[in-house]
Amino acid sequence: MKVLYETAEVRRWRRKLSGSVGFVPTMGYLHEGHIELVRRARAENKNVAVSIFVNPTQFSPHEDFAGYPRDTERDLALLREQKVDVVFMPDTEEIYPPQSSTWVEVGNISERLEGAFRPGHFRGVATVLAKLFGIVEPTRAYFGQKDAQQLVVIRRMVSDLNMDVKVVAVPTVRELDGLAMSSRNVYLDPEERESAVVLYRALSRALKLWGKGERSAELLRKEMTSLIESEPQATIEYVSIADPETLEELEQIEDQALVSMAVRIGKTRLIDGMTLGKQ
Ligand code: PAJ
Repeated sequence: MKVLYETAEVRRWRRKLSGSVGFVPTMGYLHEGHIELVRRARAENKNVAVSIFVNPTQFSPHEDFAGYPRDTERDLALLREQKVDVVFMPDTEEIYPPQSSTWVEVGNISERLEGAFRPGHFRGVATVLAKLFGIVEPTRAYFGQKDAQQLVVIRRMVSDLNMDVKVVAVPTVRELDGLAMSSRNVYLDPEERESAVVLYRALSRALKLWGKGERSAELLRKEMTSLIESEPQATIEYVSIADPETLEELEQIEDQALVSMAVRIGKTRLIDGMTLGKQ
């Protein structure tokens, strides 16, 4: 496994390759969710590249950029086990040299849900991914369904900017009690960790009601909201039942809906989501 720090080194590696390249962009502190993306990439491509880059531009000033968990040695050992070919670990200057001034703004859908609570977040995500796609030139890029809106934004960008990469969505990997794996789960103390399962319980409630034939989005939102509010440690930022493409809130669900939420457990902000209806 090659560990590369510079764009020019990645390009040299890329130019010599034959066959497909599967790419998994991450911010490191890897867990089983990330590794599942790597396994998919390994199974479906001749070559596999992973990036580890804690992208400063997707964090708001008051967010956890400086304190974001990092453990490079452990990450590299996990990726070596998965027979990854290249790990790209640029520093901030490599991705954002001082003269850099181009941004990718994905309109409308970026301003809803996560975007409403984290202004500029998706501009940072879209910009770094446009850069990483330009450097790695992947055949396929792998993303987790947990970050459901991120997937919608990336698909929109790839389509709008005619990028030659296939975006692959991978189901959310969960802990035994249902909590979605996340690098930010380390912030939870043991009591908060127990409370955090309320996000999954809310999703399961929605899924169950949907399974029984309930199609009122308002009713699903209400049921989920009251379930989460029954957990004293939890503070809701949003609970959404939206159109999976436009992310507009629905009144009535026709074929499909994206169920998503952001909930604070103590000081830790957690998100989770899933799609109702055929995928
Ligand atoms: P990060 O949070 O490190 O996540 C990297 C990828 O892993 C994302 O596609 C995310 O959806 C996926 N992932 C995280 N937890 C998962 C889980 N429990 N099951 C399945 N997949 C999971 O998302 C980012 O980094 C950044 O925004 C990035 C795309 C790298 C751009 O900076």
